[in-house]
Amino acid sequence: MQSIQEKASEWSGVAAADAFAIDDGNIFEALGGTPQPFVDLSTNFYTRVYEDEEEWFREIFAGSKKEDAIQNQYEFLVQRMGGPPLFSQRRGHPALIARHRPFPVTHQAAERWLHHMQQALNTTASIDADSKTKMLNFFRHTAYFLVAGNEMTRQQSQGVTCKHATSKPAE
Ligand code: HEM
Repeated sequence: MQSIQEKASEWSGVAAADAFAIDDGNIFEALGGTPQPFVDLSTNFYTRVYEDEEEWFREIFAGSKKEDAIQNQYEFLVQRMGGPPLFSQRRGHPALIARHRPFPVTHQAAERWLHHMQQALNTTASIDADSKTKMLNFFRHTAYFLVAGNEMTRQQSQGVTCKHATSKPAE
């Protein structure tokens, strides 16, 4: 049976090595060592999401305040891109599959999420081109990792080890 990681690579078209090229250097430090670029990106992203003309997609986020969603995401990104563990200090382990369990994370939702993230990256001047490429590969792979995880958790519940939330797989 295909693992969640294998499905994520196949469906996203991004090999695991490219998805985790974010760990080859420290993107947080390369971007100046402050949360600001990640605040910019998350704000650009969620502004698009909350104003999406596609109601079905906007509705997925209706239970969260935009400001909270921005903070959750930028703290996660700071932490995952090599900065201080802001997300875990406030929210605990990222556990991305479990946290997305309430939402319909389908192939279609992943493509819409990625569309907004691609646009948000394009309009975030505080992130350089090389970091944008690496982050987009990570986002594509992670989005489809979540689609595969969502399908799996609907069928069964068991622990999944991954490198999407931390650079070392969970025990
Ligand atoms: C939170 C949907 C992909 C990381 C959320 C929330 C929704 C959502 C509805 C709740 C908003 C909030 O209160 O923070 C989706 C959908 C996706 C997707 C439909 C399509 C594939 C991703 C990806 C990542 C990600 C690719 C990471 C690279 C997060 C994080 C949170 C979050 C860190 C905050 C969790 C928390 O603090 O509890 N997502 N997401 N999501 N998402 Fe996603």
